[in-house]
Amino acid sequence: MEQTFIIIKPEAVQRGLVGEILRRFEAKGLKIRRLEMRQISEEVAREHYGHHADKPFFPELLQAITAGPAVLGVLEGPDCIRHVRNLVGATNPLEAQPGTIRGDFATELPYTIVHAADSPEAAAAEIQRFFGS
Ligand code: CDP
Ligand code: MG
Repeated sequence: MEQTFIIIKPEAVQRGLVGEILRRFEAKGLKIRRLEMRQISEEVAREHYGHHADKPFFPELLQAITAGPAVLGVLEGPDCIRHVRNLVGATNPLEAQPGTIRGDFATELPYTIVHAADSPEAAAAEIQRFFGS
């Protein structure tokens, strides 16, 4: 069964949105296979967002993802990667539709509430990076 990797970002943990976000994934029918609260180090954040290292928003993104504890998870279900991206919504909160997590809870970049892997290759690499298997 397909698996994906998610991070409930520090701003969402700080706002008390962990339960609401997990509820949406579970209500969809996806299974939580791994779940852990963890402070992401700057070193791991640089690796995780390495493909954005040359972007102007990179320093702010690093700051946001390391600002406090995050909740990391592995979700599982049919077409899980695409379902989770649909539930999360568009990257820019201005474009994320109401009803999506970002559409309902985010107002501005880089505070996008949730990270979700965007391909099978990314999901496998991110599960390995954060959970080691
Ligand atoms: O998170 P997602 O996969 O939807 O978007 P991304 O293009 O992979 O960007 C990763 C993260 O960088 C976003 O979730 C935002 O936190 C941040 N970002 C930003 O601050 N400004 C942008 N123009 C694009 C992304
Ligand atoms: Mg991405």
